[in-house]
Amino acid sequence: MRVVVLISGQGSNLRAFLDSCAEGTIPATVVAVGADVDASGLDHARHYDIPTFVEPFEPGGDRDAWGSRLGDRIAEFTPDLVILSGFQRLVPPSFVRRFAPMILNTHPAFLPEFPGAHAVRDAFEAGVAETGASVIVVDDGVDTGPILAQRRVPVADGDTESTLHDRIKIVERELLADVVRDIANRETAIEEN
Ligand code: GRF
Repeated sequence: MRVVVLISGQGSNLRAFLDSCAEGTIPATVVAVGADVDASGLDHARHYDIPTFVEPFEPGGDRDAWGSRLGDRIAEFTPDLVILSGFQRLVPPSFVRRFAPMILNTHPAFLPEFPGAHAVRDAFEAGVAETGASVIVVDDGVDTGPILAQRRVPVADGDTESTLHDRIKIVERELLADVVRDIANRETAIEEN
């Protein structure tokens, strides 16, 4: 299965995914890694000689035009699956339509709790005893797509937002690996809406 991954940051989840593909524990090949900024995580792709691209969104720019350029960059690699892994920019509906339903997003909360860009902070500030991690199919909403896998993560005494996020990411990686493995082995079918 050919996969294109999109990131915006340090790409630690991407690195775990790439390592698992290289070890053969995820039956997928990452054919390209893209970003909306010059993300430091692109180095993980370079480490594995995987092509990278950056498609920046200009402030005040046309979101559909950006989504169309981003989609063109991805389509060059003819992926079977697109994974948003810490991609911090909302993709437009036209982009979702182009790749649906084969676009996944990993999210650091137990959806539908705490959607949006600050899920860990929001959970932390709400003082909940547990939050979680989810892998969903991307739709037109903000973290509203069908949930493929999720697991609870307790908030520990003495946690900071950062220590909590680190523990959530470990779960995100496991869930993503399970989901992609199941899709590749045809144990999970992602239906067209
Ligand atoms: C992950 O928790 C992802 O779900 C969130 O941002 C984090 C990305 O971390 N949206 P990294 O760049 O993979 O380290």
